[in-house]
Amino acid sequence: MEVIIKSDYDAINREAAQYIAELVYHKPTVVLGLATGSTPLGLYRELIRLHKDEGLDFSKIVTFNLDEYIGLPATHDQSYNFFMWDNLFNHINVNPTNVHIPNGMAGDIDAYCEWYENEIEAYGHIDLQVLGIGSDGHIAFNEPGSSLGSRTRLKTLTKQTVEDNARFFDTPEEVPRYAITMGVGTIMEARTCLLLANGEGKAKVVAEAIEGPVTAMVTASALQLHQDSILILDDAAASKLKQYDYYKWVYDNKPE
Ligand code: PGA
Repeated sequence: MEVIIKSDYDAINREAAQYIAELVYHKPTVVLGLATGSTPLGLYRELIRLHKDEGLDFSKIVTFNLDEYIGLPATHDQSYNFFMWDNLFNHINVNPTNVHIPNGMAGDIDAYCEWYENEIEAYGHIDLQVLGIGSDGHIAFNEPGSSLGSRTRLKTLTKQTVEDNARFFDTPEEVPRYAITMGVGTIMEARTCLLLANGEGKAKVVAEAIEGPVTAMVTASALQLHQDSILILDDAAASKLKQYDYYKWVYDNKPE
């Protein structure tokens, strides 16, 4: 695992965007796995800036999103489909036919999830998967107890996640209880996993994911078994890491 600690949120966004920009530059048809939530918003703003100011060309990229609420149509302003178009896709030159976001209104969820897995496989693999981390340690909606070998499927959200999400809905009853999510096993097949975390509120779970045991109770800990996982954290999110100084040392002494 490569742990990169930056001073603040802006700095982690610049670092992550630069990494993605280089990938897109070297492989215009790159397959990107994308995430929603408040964490990647700054990264998306920076990618939009690189497109507008520096002409970064997204016309050939392919994207797969991690998850979507069941029961929310793409037009709902809290659907992840809406989020992605509003916060990224409408502002860059992505080809809409190359965008994949799970369909929360699919009739046969199991068949749909199988199709989504096959669709990823048709592209070979995801080159880079962007991830956030939930306060319960989840990546995508792989809640505590999710199999570390899980594939795209329906997941019942935990009470904690429902509560975390409630701020986006008018009433508690409206908060979705189910989601379609890529599994931990699906995510682990990405060539590179790039997890971003910021703020003190994530410090405890970030430390568990990086330095605790690999456990289905903190599905982000599965990244310890990934051969190329990069975690970009701000100082606050990194503040409970035992090896904080070492990670900084490694970054500052990177071989040329
Ligand atoms: P957040 O969510 O970025 O809004 O903190 C992260 C997640 O639940 O994966």
